[in-house]
Amino acid sequence: KVYKSEETASVKVAKRIAKIIKKRQEKGKNAVLGLATGATPVKVYEELIRLHKEEGLSFKNVITFNLDEYYPMQPDENQSYVKFMDENLFNHIDIPRENINIPDGTLAKEEIADFCLEYERKITEVGGLDLQVLGIGRTGHIGFNEPGSAPNSGTRLVTLDDLTRRDASRDFGGKENVPTKAITMGIGTIFKAREIILMAWSKKKASIIKKAVEGEISGSVPATYLHLNDHVEFILDADAASEL
Ligand code: GLP
Repeated sequence: KVYKSEETASVKVAKRIAKIIKKRQEKGKNAVLGLATGATPVKVYEELIRLHKEEGLSFKNVITFNLDEYYPMQPDENQSYVKFMDENLFNHIDIPRENINIPDGTLAKEEIADFCLEYERKITEVGGLDLQVLGIGRTGHIGFNEPGSAPNSGTRLVTLDDLTRRDASRDFGGKENVPTKAITMGIGTIFKAREIILMAWSKKKASIIKKAVEGEISGSVPATYLHLNDHVEFILDADAASEL
């Protein structure tokens, strides 16, 4: 779906999320959301905050799992996804703290494998993801599933692509400060969500969107694996869709 602007598209996505939350509330159940970081979902989160503050949307029944986190990363560092989520969403809504799950960038190396299995188990335990929102990196990554990721991959420690680190270098004040690794949900983890929405805005994303939408399914552009899934939607602004 192509919208005129990022704003219009983001409001639509926020409305979809609010609908899921309310539907589950009516049944006395939790809504389980897979969330993303980066610039892409920021306006969706802004609209969710507005719906909370102005229209009384409650997040008391919402459980969230974030896609990824840099490794190593302390939660109070400026570039941490914990901080990002707090500042851009969680601090402004009524979600119970214990319902928030983000991969832990503070683990010792030998603890990571167990943590990742536990992350997957927790998602299953709460009934699976009702919706996963995704951005896309210029390497075609979803989460931090870089080129070479397997379609059935689970949550794991990965090595970041050079282009991803270059794109992150502004946030870190130089590429040399960007961690070389991250913990990310796998493509297999993402695929288990009942609905998947990939969002992309601006001309900067136009060429990777062309590859992701029109290219052959290939491990060299992990987002093309989304073609293997029948409940995926790409939501784009006119600029991101301009090469299609
Ligand atoms: C980041 C995140 C991804 C995100 C992507 C695009 O590195 N790990 O989950 O989708 O890169 O970022 P942006 O939305 O800022 O363009």
